[in-house]
Amino acid sequence: MLGFESSCDETGVALIEVEGGQPPRLLAQALHSQIAMHQAYGGVVPELASRDHVRRVLPLAREVLSQAGLALHDVDLIAYTQGPGLAGALLVGAGVAVSLAAALDVPALPVHHLEGHLLSPFLSADPPEFPFVALLVSGGHTQLMRVDDVGAYEMLGETIDDAAGEAFDKSAKLLGLPYPGGPHLARMAEFGNPEAFALPRPLLHSGKPDFSFAGLKTAVLTQVKKLGLDGGQPCEQTKADLAASTQAAIVEVLVKKSLLALKETGLKRLVVAGGVGANAKLREQLNAACAKRGVRVHYPELALCTDNGAMIAMAAALRVQRGTADARRDGGFEVRPR
Ligand code: KG4
Ligand code: ZN
Repeated sequence: MLGFESSCDETGVALIEVEGGQPPRLLAQALHSQIAMHQAYGGVVPELASRDHVRRVLPLAREVLSQAGLALHDVDLIAYTQGPGLAGALLVGAGVAVSLAAALDVPALPVHHLEGHLLSPFLSADPPEFPFVALLVSGGHTQLMRVDDVGAYEMLGETIDDAAGEAFDKSAKLLGLPYPGGPHLARMAEFGNPEAFALPRPLLHSGKPDFSFAGLKTAVLTQVKKLGLDGGQPCEQTKADLAASTQAAIVEVLVKKSLLALKETGLKRLVVAGGVGANAKLREQLNAACAKRGVRVHYPELALCTDNGAMIAMAAALRVQRGTADARRDGGFEVRPR
């Protein structure tokens, strides 16, 4: 099975082998990140993203086939990200996937991008068992879910405004860090004092597994202005302190709400997925809190936290094995940006 991901600023292609009831096996994957291209603009430029997906997608597909020593006609099924994401970017992956499927006369299978993230820990050597609680933290989404099986998802709570990744990225931008700010802010935070600034933790005590991060960004902006950090002053320590305090606020909320969801469901397994799941402080604090409560935490491999083709192929493979794949053979397709 060949899988395509092109929802935002990474072109990802992967090849997975599905053999009866065996766990699907990743044979090869290739990824091209557009981050360097978008950095000059401080964020993703949709039209540039689409054009770059066009340039990269077929060479990447050839690369994974050659890595696996296979030819296109060995492919039995093609999966692609249907959404959510940028419409033009999604259309590239979907168009290529459905065209290849039509040419090969094999089914094409649309995959929900977030289901890809959610099931990405199944690409690790020690995958989680169902049921589990999932904390999905990406650039566009922050959700807690109860997962009983592939396709059996119950939303426990989500953000009412910004996503956790957005809070990282917007705060990082205010601190003058390049796009995407999350990893840059995390690196800067290593040298800062997380208690230097008392930043808000909205909805921390709401008693529900819901989130709100918009107020945090405003609080960071207020501090940046008050301290004159936007004037190009050389105040690296203050910036590091603000970065550390911002990260501490986001991480505290994510940990507390995850524990609440675990308590509500009575489950003892937590899966963390999405780009923010790569954050070392989040991992450290979740691991400590969960160890105390006898909860096992599963993460995707670090490189598979952010967008990639392997998670899309894996989500499709798991659905195919369960007979719940919604594949089409008629060459028709639609993308769902929202
Ligand atoms: O899942 P992802 O690659 O794309 C979406 O589907 O949104 O997530 C990207 C997000 C960005 O906001 C990025 O800043 C954040 O994940 N991110 C991090 C780290 N690595 C990626 N945030 C905090 N710490 C990190 N180490
Ligand atoms: Zn994503």
